[in-house]
Amino acid sequence: MSTATPKINQIESQHILEGEGWYPLSWNKKEISQLPAYPDTEELQRSFNELKSLPPLITSWEIEALKEKLADVAEGNAFLLQGGDCAETFDACTSVKLVNMLKVMLQMSFILIHEMGTPVIRLGRIAGQYAKPRSQDFEVVDGVKMLNYRGDLINSIEASVDTRTPDPARLLEAYEKAALSLNFLRALSDEGFADLQHPEQWELDFMQNNEYYKDYEQMVSSINKAIKFMDTITPNRINTSHKVDLYTSHEALNLFYDSAQTRRVPRKQGWFNLSAHLVWLGNRTQQIDGAHIEYLKGIQNPIGIKVGPPFDLENLLRLLDTINPNHEAGKIVLITRMGHDNVKKHLPTFIRAIKQHGHPVVWSCDPMHGNTYATGSNVKTRKFNDILQEIRETFEVHRSEASYLGGVHLELTGDNVTECVGGANGLNEDGLASNYETYCDPRLNYEQSLEMAFLVAKEWNKSYR
Ligand code: PEP
Ligand code: CO
Repeated sequence: MSTATPKINQIESQHILEGEGWYPLSWNKKEISQLPAYPDTEELQRSFNELKSLPPLITSWEIEALKEKLADVAEGNAFLLQGGDCAETFDACTSVKLVNMLKVMLQMSFILIHEMGTPVIRLGRIAGQYAKPRSQDFEVVDGVKMLNYRGDLINSIEASVDTRTPDPARLLEAYEKAALSLNFLRALSDEGFADLQHPEQWELDFMQNNEYYKDYEQMVSSINKAIKFMDTITPNRINTSHKVDLYTSHEALNLFYDSAQTRRVPRKQGWFNLSAHLVWLGNRTQQIDGAHIEYLKGIQNPIGIKVGPPFDLENLLRLLDTINPNHEAGKIVLITRMGHDNVKKHLPTFIRAIKQHGHPVVWSCDPMHGNTYATGSNVKTRKFNDILQEIRETFEVHRSEASYLGGVHLELTGDNVTECVGGANGLNEDGLASNYETYCDPRLNYEQSLEMAFLVAKEWNKSYR
């Protein structure tokens, strides 16, 4: 693992750099994992300075509103649906892909709201999810050793030594693509949602092969009636309460990107990362003395923390004490990603310890990242049933510990890709090649995502109705 930290020396005034306190770049004095060095430090400096001066993507009051809603989730009074691409790419910043993503997130949330009768917070892995951790720094392509692809925020997927070199100009391109995405998502939320809201446009034929088809059909017809009724009495009701229908999130991985957009806000205490409403700490960057923790402990945003192998409970408790020393409600979302075989073995201990420690967390289940495997022909995939099993067992464990599982975290797309096997459509390993698009992990497609939403609602109802 290359841990050489690219240093920026002249951005903050020297007395701050030498000080002990927290500031947006204080992480730069620590060891940083999962970020290869930028060879061109002058260019890095220029890009960083420019990014720092550009207007923010989101606002502090949206961040505060999300935190309040997450506090409701922690209390058991709402549910969090977090979903989107594993790795967004710059090329996929298109009208069709964004509409499809919004559509699937919206339809899934309607299913959850309707079936569970509880408010649902939509949180996209969107408008900034451009950087990826990798288990290997290098790969060899046609005999040439080069850095691994780490997401469009850092380098290019194109395989050459040159295109894999970390490029600071990508910090600015990521900002631009995030801004364009967000602009369109906000416009759709304000004006163009009507089309997306109508369940008669749902593509549900695939469900005919599923044992629950009758339930689905009835539910869609009932959602349809409810929406028509609300449309009639109060048009545009869905977005009257808050302008943001879809909050944004990404992994806080490339800290140059996040810290350049971390700002003070007039008349408010503290610093806000104004590039996303929530950022999360990945499973590979949890070193307590490392750069990522140093950065995250200083921002006001709600923070997700992945919880998975190597199941280091002591480290997690230290992280919580460091990032949320005042036990603020709505601040922390613990996203467990254990793998379907590990849930029963590890989750009860974690739930008990966090409870005993008195941390008011939101519990969410990421059933994707512990269930990835490679097929015989070396295609990365996940089984729908493994994903479902992790969700089921996570609900079961929370139920038996009298704890509230308040969310799911899914890698999904609104497109008809063929990346995960199983689901009502019966996609098998031979079918994966027909439309396999992801640059990183396999995602649930439109149909698998809707089906998963029905099944999540069923599990939630067993536990909390
Ligand atoms: C991810 O969410 O895409 C990811 C890499 O997850 P994790 O850090 O849990 O492996
Ligand atoms: Co992923």
